[in-house]
Amino acid sequence: MRVLAIETSCDETGVALVEGVRDASGIFFNVLGQSLLSQAPLHAAYGGVYPTLAKREHQKNLPLIFSEALTQAGLGDHPSLEAIAVTQGPGLEPALWQGITFAQSLSREWKTPLMGINHMEGHLISSLAHRTGTNQWTLGSVPLPVLALLVSGGHTEFIVMKKWLAYERIGETLDDAVGECFDKVARMLGLPYPGGPEISRLAREARQKGLRSELALPRPMLRSKNCDVSFSGLKTAALYALRGKTLSEEERQAFARELEDAVAEVFIAKTRQALKECDAKTFVLGGGVAANVHLRESLTSMLKKEFPEVEIRLPELSITGDNAVMIAEAALTRLLSGGETNPKETLEMRADGALSIA
Ligand code: KG4
Ligand code: ZN
Repeated sequence: MRVLAIETSCDETGVALVEGVRDASGIFFNVLGQSLLSQAPLHAAYGGVYPTLAKREHQKNLPLIFSEALTQAGLGDHPSLEAIAVTQGPGLEPALWQGITFAQSLSREWKTPLMGINHMEGHLISSLAHRTGTNQWTLGSVPLPVLALLVSGGHTEFIVMKKWLAYERIGETLDDAVGECFDKVARMLGLPYPGGPEISRLAREARQKGLRSELALPRPMLRSKNCDVSFSGLKTAALYALRGKTLSEEERQAFARELEDAVAEVFIAKTRQALKECDAKTFVLGGGVAANVHLRESLTSMLKKEFPEVEIRLPELSITGDNAVMIAEAALTRLLSGGETNPKETLEMRADGALSIA
């Protein structure tokens, strides 16, 4: 079966047309067409995502991105589809509404049911899938339960999936998301938005040169016995550490490394705790911050050493950021697992900026 998916929760406008099949060995996805446009360079001028600008850009670009994806698929102007899937939340509501109203009018015009998809479920499912060809992905057989660490600009949570598509949250940030912490500290260092990739670039230099910062940062919540994390204290500690100082390029690199180390150490300890609590057979890392190489490597080496029986799934770097293929894959997994489209959803769907996965 086929779905068309639309993603506009933040500053990426994405449309994808994806086919999914299920057989005895699992679920397979074939990406027929996809188009993605990042607004990040425009938001960089404001130092972060500016919601009114995001809304306007989605509105302007959606028709173009949509026709690009459709042309790529080569199935004509009105392909036959099982459903139109759209990100319902979480995210910026003005941005989400652009995708939803576009999907609603398409759904009416094409008489195709609409499905609202949770953005975090998109990150989770797409990160579990692995590539089998240029445009092909599969979930294969995934040993359950799955422990997912979802890390993005707006969310940081430990989710357990004991049964397919049924989620339980066993830990989360008490304040800021880790991506937000990276972005804010990057800004303090005079780096452009989005700051996460910039921090990672500087930190890599520091690791290669063996540089360590004289400015130490805390490892918040390490002693608490649960799976919750907190990053606002880390951000404030960075602010105080940097106040009144002008760092040389090497000092900045070393400080970026210290931040990455602090974040990775917290996630290693909390992932260890989470794995002990949930007896997971598979671990998956998802969300924009899953692009952080140091975090990927630290988690992988801890898991291999301490939990060798747990299967590790890391998303390819090309799919860690927001995109519409992940929304299509979540929708297809729902449909192919016996989920149904609900025609009533079409008119009644509302954006939900705080939509929760569990
Ligand atoms: O999932 P995502 O693309 O958008 C949201 O759903 O929020 O995540 C964006 C976040 C931003 O905070 C960005 O700085 C961060 O992911 N990020 C990174 C890296 N690449 C992106 N953080 C750390 N290291 C990276 N390499
Ligand atoms: Zn995201």
